[in-house]
Amino acid sequence: MSEPAPSTGPSVFAPWNDPAERPLIQFQNVTKRFGDFTAIDNLTVDIYAREFFALLGPSGCGKTTLMRMLAGFETPTEGYILLDGSDIGSVPPNRRAVNMMFQSYALFPHLTVSENIAFGLKRDKLPKDQIAARVDEMLRLVQLQKFAGRKPHQISGGQRQRVALARSLAKAPKLLLLDEPLGALDKKLRTDTQFELMEIQETTGTTFVIVTHDQEEAMTVASRVAVMDHGKMVQVDTPDRIYETPNSVYVADFIGDVNLVEGTASAHHRDGKIEIHWAEGKPPIVGTPMQPIADGTRCTFAIRPEKVHISKEHPEGKSNIMQGKIIDIAYLGNISTYHVQIPTGEIFKAQTANTRRIERRKFTWDDEVWLWWSETAGVVLTG
Ligand SMILES: Nc1ncnc2c1ncn2[C@@H]1O[C@H](COP(=O)(O)OP(=O)(O)OP(=O)(O)O)[C@@H](O)[C@H]1O
Ligand SMILES: [Mg+2]
Repeated sequence: MSEPAPSTGPSVFAPWNDPAERPLIQFQNVTKRFGDFTAIDNLTVDIYAREFFALLGPSGCGKTTLMRMLAGFETPTEGYILLDGSDIGSVPPNRRAVNMMFQSYALFPHLTVSENIAFGLKRDKLPKDQIAARVDEMLRLVQLQKFAGRKPHQISGGQRQRVALARSLAKAPKLLLLDEPLGALDKKLRTDTQFELMEIQETTGTTFVIVTHDQEEAMTVASRVAVMDHGKMVQVDTPDRIYETPNSVYVADFIGDVNLVEGTASAHHRDGKIEIHWAEGKPPIVGTPMQPIADGTRCTFAIRPEKVHISKEHPEGKSNIMQGKIIDIAYLGNISTYHVQIPTGEIFKAQTANTRRIERRKFTWDDEVWLWWSETAGVVLTG
């Protein structure tokens, strides 16, 4: 009798790691210039079918321009964009299997929810019964069956957002582009809608590319996040890797809160670890670089506040210890962030989780405290 195959657990969605997988979208050395201004700078990236791909970056870094090129509203100045292996440079927007979702105000106010969803299908002159069936399917998908006959002003902001989503999914695009789709929603509704978006994306198998200013949102919904700067993608990676192993000071600083300490590396330390000399007369920081670092390299040590421990007693047997004074406390309900000034004058942030509703405050302003962290808690960056 044969043994059942050992379970390998749920398969992980990571087509970008599979060399046999063919990307749905390929940007090949794409540059977009407006006059002598370069909005997209020699950008190369692959995006795979069924991905939820998030673009994150400061205002003006080229996110919308990238989307508009995908949708066909702009053409690259140089380079190629391939969809399913073919160059889409000369394909007009309405002939691409791509749709762009606009904000709720783009709904037609005089049309009902159903008519809004049917709009693109009618324009394509589909038979009536097919349109009706498709609209029904879309209403079910976004759970708005009961609201089919209402006008946009008779439903809530979140519901309008769902109508807009249903409308952009009605023609079953291969690729849906979402430029700040949840911008108009408040925090709570935004979170709910994020989960709905993820569910709809999974159910329909559509590839989503989303632009958001909200990094938490990008981290929640995305299979991969691209962090952009001046028309380039600085890092393209899964949310956890972007957060835990940023490839540069720019990414570390852009995503989440971080403590940054500049120093000089001395490579001769045990088990691939290095020492970072960061202040006269202070013990070096011991850290783990991702690549070997030559002796004497200038580098930046980056550590997230939640990985910095704080205590009143001197911690024993730890390698990264600093003494300081609490100068500020930010209480955020679920967490508290302590701003601790160390003798060099720099501020270090340490974060603790508030797991109990009523907790005796352990630290207060002007308290002398110790900070410490493990040798693997931070990253050493050279870029
Ligand atoms: N049609 C245009 N003509 C000239 N410059 C443009 C044009 N469209 C965009 N730009 C410039 O290209 C840069 C990138 O614009 P883009 O709209 O892609 O930024 P973004 O990343 O979407 O920013 P935001 O987060 O503010 O929406 C900006 O500096 C913008 O001024
Ligand atoms: Mg934009």
